[in-house]
Amino acid sequence: MTSHTLNELIAEGVRGRYILVRSDLNVPLDGSTVTDDGRIKASLPVIEKLSDAGARVLVTAHLGRPKGAPEAKYSLKPAVARLAELAPFRVRLAADTVGESAKELAGALEDGDVLVLENVRFDARETSKDDAERGAFADELVALTGDNGAFVDDAFGAVHRKHASVYDVATKLPSYQGDLVHTEVEVLRKLTTETQRPYVVVLGGSKVSDKLAVIDNLLGKADTILVGGGMLFTFLAAVGHKVAGSLLEADQIPVVQDYLKRASDAGTAFVIPTDVVVASRFAADAEHEVVAADAIEDSSFGATGIGLDIGPVSAAAFAEQIKAAKTVFWNGPMGVFEFEAFSDGTRAIAQALTETPAFTVVGGGDSAAAVRTLGFEDSQFGHISTGGGASLEYLEGKDLPGLSVLDR
Ligand code: 3PG
Repeated sequence: MTSHTLNELIAEGVRGRYILVRSDLNVPLDGSTVTDDGRIKASLPVIEKLSDAGARVLVTAHLGRPKGAPEAKYSLKPAVARLAELAPFRVRLAADTVGESAKELAGALEDGDVLVLENVRFDARETSKDDAERGAFADELVALTGDNGAFVDDAFGAVHRKHASVYDVATKLPSYQGDLVHTEVEVLRKLTTETQRPYVVVLGGSKVSDKLAVIDNLLGKADTILVGGGMLFTFLAAVGHKVAGSLLEADQIPVVQDYLKRASDAGTAFVIPTDVVVASRFAADAEHEVVAADAIEDSSFGATGIGLDIGPVSAAAFAEQIKAAKTVFWNGPMGVFEFEAFSDGTRAIAQALTETPAFTVVGGGDSAAAVRTLGFEDSQFGHISTGGGASLEYLEGKDLPGLSVLDR
């Protein structure tokens, strides 16, 4: 089964037609400042292609997780302001999603204009589990496109969501795969089929429980899994070490023990840090020191010390593995990279990814933000995925509703 492409839609002709585009503009904000515009830049080409071809483009997007009603802090205003700075086309933001403002501004669009509808999650029906509720919201979105509309899904980051603006609209309009979704899927396919070995996966982030399914799926597929981030402490506990006040998911210890056992049977090696950076408290200016991973409670901070990064010996060992790999997938920071004192582990991994001859994929909003925050350029990596949960679910082998609905 294949999806129809954006180029096919353009070839059919879009001048004067209303084209509904689902983009992922879910960017991190500091107040009203966009701190990483990667997803906006990644969304721009498809919107621009349609605008250039004379379409009247209606963009839907979400930001954050509002509870089904408007909330100023989740407005798409900052994201759209940044889009407008980057865009060569006229772009406006409606004050609502399918209400009076959306209808009036949509009606006033001229060929090539772009209107972004306010956060789709301001309407509780967007994420409803009830098919009829989502369907009714999708009908209202579709109605904005008149009688010759089409839908383009370009929001790779949201393809794992069975939401009205991702899934249901695609059942109601002729639907096409956006170029960003297409590229992301092609890249992730390389990680699941025809993978060049050694295949090294670097997993970080705070919780093991978020990574269980992907770890499960990688056993026997990845040659090596390097473990960092907050989740490493559950691994240390699983091999019998004390972790003092570090993040620990005690209920996951047996699960991790099972993984460690199954991994060796499946031919996948887990590499757990041998040293960590322990801090007196969770703060940018906290006192800190490097200790062996099996002696965290022996740090100056005793039983209250908190591990906030992998140590330099582990970072160097991880870098060696990455440099010897042919394929590398990285999801999740190694430490609290937002605090300079605890960013070295994450920086070392990013640096190694830029130096390895391997095909490298950085997946997950946090890791993508991390590499940019630490001053690396997107072009230094094989591919920086815009999808966090979506790229993980793809690697887990799950059915992604936003992709399968485009297949026909
Ligand atoms: C993401 O940030 O991964 C995507 O934008 C999806 O957001 P969600 O996890 O809130 O659905």
